[in-house]
Formats: sequence, C-alpha cells, structure tokens
Amino acid sequence: MTELMNFAQSVAREAGELILCEREQADLVHDYKGGNELVTNADIKADQLIRTRIEQRFAEHRLLSEESSPELQRVWESEVPVWIVDPIDGTVNYAHGHIQSAVSIAYCEHGQITLGVVYNPFTDELFSAELGQGAKLNGATIRVADETNLRRAIIATGFPYIKEGIDDMVERVRSILHHCADIRRLGSAALDICWLAAGRLDGYYESLSLWDFAAARLIAAEAGAVCGHFGAVPGDVDPQFFNKNLLIANPALYPQLLELLQQS
Ligand code: IPD
Ligand code: CA
Ligand code: CA
Repeated sequence: MTELMNFAQSVAREAGELILCEREQADLVHDYKGGNELVTNADIKADQLIRTRIEQRFAEHRLLSEESSPELQRVWESEVPVWIVDPIDGTVNYAHGHIQSAVSIAYCEHGQITLGVVYNPFTDELFSAELGQGAKLNGATIRVADETNLRRAIIATGFPYIKEGIDDMVERVRSILHHCADIRRLGSAALDICWLAAGRLDGYYESLSLWDFAAARLIAAEAGAVCGHFGAVPGDVDPQFFNKNLLIANPALYPQLLELLQQS
C-alpha cells in the first residue's frame, strides 16, 4: 500500500470512529443549511478532524471539503494536490439511526483523481482504489456485476434536498421502474457507487456535488464500471469532475441505461 493510501485509510477510519462515537454518546445537534439541508455536529467535527490531519501532514495541499471549504472550483486546474472530502455522506441516514453512511476522501493530483477511500464505520467496510490498481473492499479485489439484462438490473439513485426539478426526476424513476427489475434509494451516493463497484447494484444515476462522488467514482471505474453522464458536459469542464446527470454502470448496461435516461 502506498504512503498516501495508508494515510487516507487511517484518516477515514479515525473519522469513522468519531462519527460512530458521536451517535452513540452525544445528543446530535441538527441544523439545516440553507433551510433544508441537514447537517449535524458530527459532520462538522469529522470535517475538522480530517482537515487537521491533512494540514498536519501535507501543509501545501488544498482541500475541498463539504462543511469547511466547499468553495474550491475547477479542481482539475489546481497546480497543487487537492483532497476532496465528504466527512459524512448519508447525513440524513446518520441522523435517523440508519447504517448507510460513510466518510469519503479522494486525492487529486495533476488534474486526475488518483486515490479514493470510502469508509462505512457502521459495517466496517472500507472501499478503496488507486488509479490503475483495481478496486478493493477491505483489501479484497471487487468487480462490477456481470448482469447484461436491464430487466434484471437493480438501479440506485437519489434526490436532492431542494425539490425544484423533482417532477423530471419522478419521470426518470417511472421509466426505470418500467424497464428494470427495481430501484433503490439508499441515502448515500458514495456508498451507492461503491456498492455498484462491488456488484451489489447494477446501475446508478444522480446529480451530486463533487465531494459526494470523487472517491467512489474512481473506485467504480477501477472495478470495471463505465462512468459518464446522461446529459451534456460543458466543453470547458473536465468530465471526471462534472457533477450533473451522472450515470455509472457496468459496460453492458451503460448504453441501455443511457438510452433510457436520455429518452425520459
Ligand atoms: C447526500 C447523499 C445522498 C444524495 C444527496 C447528497 P450528504 O449527501 O449522498 O445520497 O442523494 O444528493 O447530498 O448530504 O448526506 O452528505
Ligand atoms: Ca454527500
Ligand atoms: Ca456530507
């Protein structure tokens, strides 16, 4: 394991331990960013912990982190490495006592995400990948499922906090339900994408923020998934970082899902 991977995994585990303890021991404080997006004191504490560890070890690196520094744009143009962090992906699950939540940490160098770690402390599952090295779950290699029949496929998605545009999303859900076996809304985009990487889901689509998918997208790609978009990507944006209309699936199902989503 490289030094960077070792570091990212140990920070993800430490933050995971923190969010576990916070839920068990403390009264979670609920707040709502912009009036509707849930954030707890554990999100803030985990963010601070990860930030501190990165600053202690790599003072010259930059950080894009959901709770403390969400403003960094055009990450791929940065001349210094950038860490992309979601301290808790699946906050609504977390605050409601569900177990589908994870710490997500990605590392970007020379405009390329080269490392991703997604850790679910409730199941003690750590998904990881380094560019060109394959994807792993707790150290064992994972691959996408080999399902080729859309009618047998389980597709995951999610919905934003802001309800604007929800009708178009409902239309897409209707189309997926008509053509696929079933749909899942599990509540953590990072884990949805890692579950796809592990063959537990066959397809995934959603619009997100970069911190939700940066690590998991690399993990899925390294597990053999095709990662793209079912809408246009602006010409001046590196598609690897484009957050809208993401579509991820195995190579057989990707074109079928693309057609379906583009039609609906
Ligand atoms: C959310 C989760 C969810 C997705 C939302 C995200 P958060 O992240 O990934 O699955 O549907 O769009 O905002 O707020 O729990 O970090
Ligand atoms: Ca998130
Ligand atoms: Ca979050």
